[in-house]
Amino acid sequence: MATSPSARIVIRGGNPLRGCVPVSGSKNASLYALAASLLSADTVTIHNVPEIADTGEMCALLEALGARTRIEGTTVTIEAAELTETFAPYDLVASTRASFLVMGPLLARMGEAGCPPPGGDVIGMRPLDVHLAGFRALGAEVVREGGNWVARSPRLEGARLFLDYPSVLGTVNVLFAATLAHGTTTIVNAAAEPEVQMVADLLNAMGARISGHGTGIVTVEGIERLHGAEFTVIPDRIEAGTYLLAGVATGGSVEVQGARPDHLDSLISKLREANVDVQTTDGGILATNRGRLDPVQFQAVPYPGFATDLHAPMAAMLTQAHGVSIVHERVFDNRLLYVAELRTMGARLTTGGQAVMIEGPSKLVGAHVRALDVRAGAAVVIGGLCAEGETEIRDIVHIDRGYANLVPRLRSLGADIERR
Ligand code: EPU
Repeated sequence: MATSPSARIVIRGGNPLRGCVPVSGSKNASLYALAASLLSADTVTIHNVPEIADTGEMCALLEALGARTRIEGTTVTIEAAELTETFAPYDLVASTRASFLVMGPLLARMGEAGCPPPGGDVIGMRPLDVHLAGFRALGAEVVREGGNWVARSPRLEGARLFLDYPSVLGTVNVLFAATLAHGTTTIVNAAAEPEVQMVADLLNAMGARISGHGTGIVTVEGIERLHGAEFTVIPDRIEAGTYLLAGVATGGSVEVQGARPDHLDSLISKLREANVDVQTTDGGILATNRGRLDPVQFQAVPYPGFATDLHAPMAAMLTQAHGVSIVHERVFDNRLLYVAELRTMGARLTTGGQAVMIEGPSKLVGAHVRALDVRAGAAVVIGGLCAEGETEIRDIVHIDRGYANLVPRLRSLGADIERR
C-alpha cells in the first residue's frame, strides 16, 4: 500500500518496551530472490516475503519484463516462462536500488539487458562499477545508451574475476550472470552477507552449481538452464536488530522471535559490551537492559562486521549510554543523515568525516523530525520512544520501505505510538 506524503508517525515516549515481536522475512534478500526468478522459465515460489512497498515494486518490474507474479500474503509466485522485454523501464527502477539486479538474469538468459542507474536511499555515491566490470569479465559488451546501462553477450564465458569492493548487489548480479555462463566462474572478494548466501542457496535449489558462498571466494559452474523451486526467505537481521535496540534504548526487554543469532554476531557482541543482557532463546534473541548502558566504539563494515544498516539505530540507542561512544561508518559516505534529527531531540552528537561521537546519556525531548532514509528513520523512531513528550516523524515513506507493520508491533511492546 502506498504511503501518503502527509502520513506521520507520532510517538509519546518514555514507555520501556517489553515483550515479544516476530521478525519479518528479509527485505533485501526477498528482492534478490524475486530477481533470481527471472533466471528460470519454470515457476518459482518464494515464502516469507515482507509486505512492503519495495517488494511490490520489484514484482511490478518483473511483470514489465514479461513475468507473471502472484502475491498471496507473504508468498510470491513468479512465472517467467517468456520474457518479452530486456530493458527495465525507468519508472520502475527509480526508487529501488535492487531493481538493477534484473541486469544479470536478463543478460544471462536473453543475451541483452538494459537498465537506467537505479534510485534508492541517498546514502552515498553508490556507483555500479563492480556490477559492470563483472559483466565485462564474463565477456559482455557494456555500454551506456541514452539513459541506460546496456550489456550484451550471446553467451557469457566463465572467468576468474576480482571485485574491487565486496559490493552486495554487485556480487549478486555477477552470481546471476555466472550461473548460466559457459564454464566456471570464480568471484574473488565476493560479499559474504547472509542475504548473498541465501540467494546462492536459492540458485542451487534451482539447479545452479555454486560453492563457497558466505566466504570471499565463490565458485560457479555454469549450466544450461535453471529449473523452478520453492524457497523461504531468511529472517530480516536488520529489522530484528532494530527491535532489540529499541527495547534496550527504552530501558526494557524485547525478544525477537525468529531472529537468527548467527546472523547478528557483531550486534550481540557490541550489546554485551554495552552491558546489555543478551540471550539466545528457543525462538530467537532476547535483549534486556540491565539498568545502565556502557558506551562502545564500533566501525560499520562489510559482513561479518557491524552492519551499516544497524549503525543509525545503534547510535540512537547509544545516546542513552553513560559516556562517550564512537561510531565510524566505513561502507557508505552519506550515512549520517540521522545525526541532525537526533540533535533536534537533544542528543549530543559530533561528527568528523564519517565518524560520530555520541555523548550520553542524553535526556531526549519530543520534536518534529524527518525519516531521511530507511535506517535514519529507524533511529528517529528509537529517539522518539526514549524522548519525553511527543515526537512527530515526517517522510515516513522511508520507514515503510523497510519495516512492515512497525506501528502495531511497537504498540504490542507497550509503545505509545500511532500513525496519522
Ligand atoms: N560500491 C562501489 N561500486 C559498486 C557498488 C558499490 O564502489 O559497483 C560501493 C558503494 O559506493 C558503497 C559500498 O560499495 O560505498 C557498499 O555498497 P554495496 O554495493 O555493498 O551496497 P548495495 O548492494 O548497494 C545493499 C543493501 C543496503 C546495504 C548494503 C550493505 C539492498 C537493496 N541494499 O546495498 O541496504 O546497506 O547492501 O550491506 O539490498 C538498507 O536496507 O537500508 C540498505 C541501504
